[in-house]
Amino acid sequence: MGRLAGKKAFITGGAQGLGKCFAEMFAAEGAHVTITDVQADAVRQTAEEINGRYAGKAFAFTHDVTSRADWETALAGAADAMGGISVLVNNAGIGSFGSVESETFETYRKVMDIDLDAIFVGTQLAMPHLKDSQPASIINISSVAGLRADGNFLSYNVAKAGVCMISKSIALHCAKAGYQITCNSIHPVFTRTAIIEAMTMASGDREAGEAKLARQIPMKRIGEPEDIGHMAVYLASDEAKFVTGTELVADGGLTAR
Ligand SMILES: NC(=O)c1ccc[n+]([C@@H]2O[C@H](COP(=O)([O-])OP(=O)(O)OC[C@H]3O[C@@H](n4cnc5c(N)ncnc54)[C@H](O)[C@@H]3O)[C@@H](O)[C@H]2O)c1
Repeated sequence: MGRLAGKKAFITGGAQGLGKCFAEMFAAEGAHVTITDVQADAVRQTAEEINGRYAGKAFAFTHDVTSRADWETALAGAADAMGGISVLVNNAGIGSFGSVESETFETYRKVMDIDLDAIFVGTQLAMPHLKDSQPASIINISSVAGLRADGNFLSYNVAKAGVCMISKSIALHCAKAGYQITCNSIHPVFTRTAIIEAMTMASGDREAGEAKLARQIPMKRIGEPEDIGHMAVYLASDEAKFVTGTELVADGGLTAR
């Protein structure tokens, strides 16, 4: 029996990167997983890969998290396929570089739509499913950028700080209502996925780019997806049933100073 046996997880942005890693680690611990993504072919292929190792565990839906209609379809399909939804991982996200002088309002709005507003819409729509499958958990992927600002990360800082606070509000609502539903945020530092390529590939040399990022981190390395995946497995499990409204930071010590 795995640590997540009987769990039914819905993971956004699951075609690649952290979402894919969460899905693989959840399935390895016995969960059923539904991964959704705006990349239709890639998300289906990822589910097939997972089913190659853990037969019948993974399902996939094309899903733009900024579309309410997509949320409704994907949540209903996932609940039908898995027999409910007991874990919601709001992971889909985009990055953006821009300061108060250089960021356009269009980009700012796009980052808010995908990284923050979608969590409100999606979690609200998922609540009936989570209430039907208690004990349940909501895991929102924020960032160290939700805890520390950078002059060139304006939109991302605002969205990810919002992810931190929406998680606490949801946690307190669920606690007050007497639901066995926890809600927490995870705050990774630079982790090896496509999202950091804009930084690591700026000079055309990935190794040099990653080394430059690693120098900013006390442990002198960037994160691996599994470093974050272990946190998500814990929060999805009943081991974390008394952990709610908190921030789990995986940053090699960055925010300790
Ligand atoms: N990798 C890091 O360094 C890092 C650090 C801190 C936080 N994060 C956060 O982790 C989460 C996952 O990012 P990642 O590192 O795996 O990057 P990634 O770019 O590899 O994955 C992001 C996924 O989200 C999907 N996506 C983007 N817009 C979408 C939309 N509108 N609807 C549905 N899916 C959409 C993409 O198609 C992609 O599959 C993001 O929220 C990101 O902000 C990542």
